[in-house]
Amino acid sequence: LPSHFTLPSGDKIPSVALGVWRADRDRVGAAVKTALETGYRHIDGAWIYNNEVEVGKAIRESGVPREDIWITSKLWNDFHAPEDVEPVLDESLSRLGINYLDLYLIHWPVAFKKGTNREVDFDRTANPYPTWQKLEEMVAKGKVRNIGVSNFNIRRLQNLTANPLKIKPAINQVEISYWFPQPELLKWSNENGILLEAYSPLGSQEKVKKTLEVPEVKSIAKELGITPAQVIISWHVQRGTIVLPKSVTPSRVEENLRVVPLPQDAFDMLEKAATSHEPERGSDPKWGVDIWN
Ligand code: A2P
Repeated sequence: LPSHFTLPSGDKIPSVALGVWRADRDRVGAAVKTALETGYRHIDGAWIYNNEVEVGKAIRESGVPREDIWITSKLWNDFHAPEDVEPVLDESLSRLGINYLDLYLIHWPVAFKKGTNREVDFDRTANPYPTWQKLEEMVAKGKVRNIGVSNFNIRRLQNLTANPLKIKPAINQVEISYWFPQPELLKWSNENGILLEAYSPLGSQEKVKKTLEVPEVKSIAKELGITPAQVIISWHVQRGTIVLPKSVTPSRVEENLRVVPLPQDAFDMLEKAATSHEPERGSDPKWGVDIWN
């Protein structure tokens, strides 16, 4: 299985990352260190996860050179106004203790009015182009190497890319799991040169256990002598997506990096099983915007 995917910039992004969403501040440092010791070279974080200081400290203490690690952060919904982008990016950089990000994503296709309690700014939500232009400027300034989006559907990407972009979104980070495999988005993204990153790849909190007990997953795991989680993570990479399993448990962090190619018949069986039940989305923020349609 590919250990990396190549972006339009020429940069190579490692196919398996440690995701640090919901990783508590007192446990995230150990998870990052375990990950780097085990061989991870990709950490997927965000400003809103509120653990960038701990993530940055663990990276420095690991002794792995910064330039060998792919570091992603995300622009939170409060900061879509063009004048707010650079200051909050600088804040992420300073919390992480680094001077550039490998990847910066617009976290959600939803803009809040800054300082309100999640009051939606409908104009900025409808038109993300001014925010995107600021991200392009951050690339030109060398603060960010690659830019992309997160939680965008096809319609929203078409809306953004209808503008005269200097840099196209390289990445779209979205929920993808056995329960929500998103085959249409995957096909469209492949055709349009946008790489997907799968968050909640094991099905997110409540559904992880259920995922690992899917009969097809269990039988493939048995056949290959690997764990059900490894079957799922391998399936994601084999589909051509970057995969972001989150764990703060050292043995799982290690387990999740070990992806293996699934035999074609096993892959096909799993793909068919995943795409032939009713799709069930895990996350659904209630912000008064229909994000998915
Ligand atoms: P923990 O962090 O306590 O180790 P997802 O990435 O789909 O959101 O799933 C994250 C959840 O799955 C976390 O609760 C994590 O638990 C758990 N998890 C991560 N890796 C594994 C694994 N290899 N086996 C079982 N559970 C796992």
